[in-house]
Amino acid sequence: MPSLRSWRLPASSLSSSTRLSTSRTLPRLRPLANLHVRGYKASSGRQPQPPRDIMTGEIVALPDIDPSLVKIQDNPKRKTPPPSSKLVFGRTFTDHMLTIPWSSASGWGTPEIKPYGPLVLDPSCTVFHYAFTTFEGMKAYRNEDGTVRLFRPDKNMARLNRSASRIALPAFDGEALSQLIQKLVLMDSEWIPKEKGYSLYIRPTMIGTQNALGVGPSSDALLFVICSPVGPYYASGFKPVQLLASTKYVRAAPGGTGSYKIGANYAPGVVPQSEAAKEGYSQNLWLYGDEHEITEVGTMNLFVSFKKPDGTVELATPPLDDIVLPGVTRLSVLELAREHVKGNKIPGLPEKLEVNERRMVMAEIVEAQKNGTLLEIFGTGTAAIVSAVDRIGFQGKDIPIPVGPDGMGPIAKAVLDRVVGIQTGEFEHEWSVIAKDTVGKK
Ligand SMILES: Cc1ncc(COP(=O)(O)O)c(C=O)c1O
Repeated sequence: MPSLRSWRLPASSLSSSTRLSTSRTLPRLRPLANLHVRGYKASSGRQPQPPRDIMTGEIVALPDIDPSLVKIQDNPKRKTPPPSSKLVFGRTFTDHMLTIPWSSASGWGTPEIKPYGPLVLDPSCTVFHYAFTTFEGMKAYRNEDGTVRLFRPDKNMARLNRSASRIALPAFDGEALSQLIQKLVLMDSEWIPKEKGYSLYIRPTMIGTQNALGVGPSSDALLFVICSPVGPYYASGFKPVQLLASTKYVRAAPGGTGSYKIGANYAPGVVPQSEAAKEGYSQNLWLYGDEHEITEVGTMNLFVSFKKPDGTVELATPPLDDIVLPGVTRLSVLELAREHVKGNKIPGLPEKLEVNERRMVMAEIVEAQKNGTLLEIFGTGTAAIVSAVDRIGFQGKDIPIPVGPDGMGPIAKAVLDRVVGIQTGEFEHEWSVIAKDTVGKK
């Protein structure tokens, strides 16, 4: 039976121009968020038009992603996963993938889980010309008891929706996609290496697939999910990273797209990264503005820890504003540290801790390093979870950053241990979601 569970906005929250027609019903209807309709308003030329009720002319809702409709085609030529020790990040893919088409005329179509393979796309597709592409990075872990766990998948679903909306791609029911991803991951669970520290990297991606060269909202889209087994970031002990804080390039600016996980943000970072590598640094520290405000590092968020005069340790990270990607790991570190301050203690974190999201400029880092109040700096992200920084190149000089004897400062180590514990299920926590087959079809 049609389910209305996927409605994400009450009809009362829709503007009168987007209110649903009551004269017909469609399965798993999706409310027309203002954002979708915004793209339709310019009704000239080839702009996609929302479907309208043939009797009343009112805009009708389109079907959302419906996991119960999934078509499953088992891969008859399943491969043998390579030995875990041979895995290189993002080079090996599992036997299956998930695809879900969307069109402005008919909404989300039939989800399919099928053998991993090439996509066939017309060369005029919007994704190839104007970077209509947004993606997520999340991981599944295999626990010793055989269960497969995802880490905060709701956050990745919400971020994908947010990013998609920034480039006029369609919104979707995050819980429905999460259920389909769980089904996919369970089908390919043999690919999740059993060794500690290994995981399955999951890459949900949405692209614009309209065959047209005009710049405008894409009338068609494809959401697909592929999975890749990956090894631990620190296969042979923690390795701190070195950052080049360059003013030559800017990753993001206010009003731009830096806080969205869209493909267009990533290709332009490759040349700066190669230049940093030539100078002996592993990543770029992205600065913004005349005061050299710290924003992010490579593809990670950044945390800095300072000693305050009264002995309190401050853990600070730049505010998101609209130039920093809202990392799931960043959020998790902030939430864990704030819980610690409230009394839910995390072993290894300082007794007197202050957690701040605040603006930091390079001059503050230089000064704190000189007067000995700079304690540690680390990046956070799904791939490494935390990555200690031991050196920052800035204006022709290197700023040494303390890392401690383990190659990682005490805060970085404490949050790494707790996040890994949650991800693998060793530490029971609501953020760790056991993958379930709620889709049910074989
Ligand atoms: C630019 C950027 N910043 C930060 C992050 C870290 O985000 P997360 O913790 O969700 O992996 C990523 C990775 O996704 C990223 O691409």
